[in-house]
Amino acid sequence: MTELSCIHAFERDLSPASALATALGVPVRTVALHRFPDGESLVRSTTEDARPVLYCRLDHPNERLIEALLAADALGGKPVLVAPYLPYMRQDIAFHPGEAVSQRVVSRLLGGAVSALVTVAPHLHRTATLDPLIAPARAIVIPAADVLAPLLRDEAADRPVLVGPDGESAPALLRLVELTGFEALHLTKTRSGDREVAATLPPGTALEGRRAVLIDDICSTGTTLTEAARLLYAAGAGSVEAIVIHPLFDAAAASRLRAAGIRRIRATDSVAHDAGRIPLAPFLAAALRECLP
Ligand code: R5P
Repeated sequence: MTELSCIHAFERDLSPASALATALGVPVRTVALHRFPDGESLVRSTTEDARPVLYCRLDHPNERLIEALLAADALGGKPVLVAPYLPYMRQDIAFHPGEAVSQRVVSRLLGGAVSALVTVAPHLHRTATLDPLIAPARAIVIPAADVLAPLLRDEAADRPVLVGPDGESAPALLRLVELTGFEALHLTKTRSGDREVAATLPPGTALEGRRAVLIDDICSTGTTLTEAARLLYAAGAGSVEAIVIHPLFDAAAASRLRAAGIRRIRATDSVAHDAGRIPLAPFLAAALRECLP
């Protein structure tokens, strides 16, 4: 790996950034952030590295994307951005006339500011890969299945059934089935609003007391997982829990998820969240070793 002297991160990200730095055997260095009274940010950082590495969690994206771009400029030399959660990927077409295609706008901004982007399970619907979106930067994507398979293999005793929330989850589920040997099924989902979701299980699904584990890349309002839990219990599941890659839900959504009978929600530390206890550092470190040859 190219000589890397440290991982750069804002103070708010020091905990996961330090875990990543430790995995790579380097220290973490704080990127200084000043907020002016009018809300603008001033970012300051220095580096000796030819290809500095910036770790940045991008929940609250309207503010943090800008600060990541400012930090990239401060570091110079087009850094490698480690952003475990990549926001704004869902709006990949104009669903209604006149809508901005957020995925395109954000990808272009990042692609122009960094030399490579390391991320986890970006929410790509109609786009197969991130590379053409963020070109000329390079994309290194850690798939959800790679993170979750080791966790699930440790729970093989009662052979849970894995459940995806929609058709788009099918490729990740298939990969998890290959890696764990567990059974999987997915719902068919239609969303008509932020909090309006209709879903169905495959016809004839009978779970007969089994443990169902919902696997989703994002949980935001919790509506999808709540509806999925309702259907799974109606189909006879003995228990329902969830594993989420990017836990974007708030406390009110957490209450609704509990009220729907979701007994346990596990999530990665891709964003700052109480449920985010699955460390991504080993996967991010491996990805960085690959992109800093
Ligand atoms: C949708 O395509 C995603 O996989 C998630 O199911 C969705 O983003 C979850 O959103 P919410 O929690 O608001 O239903």
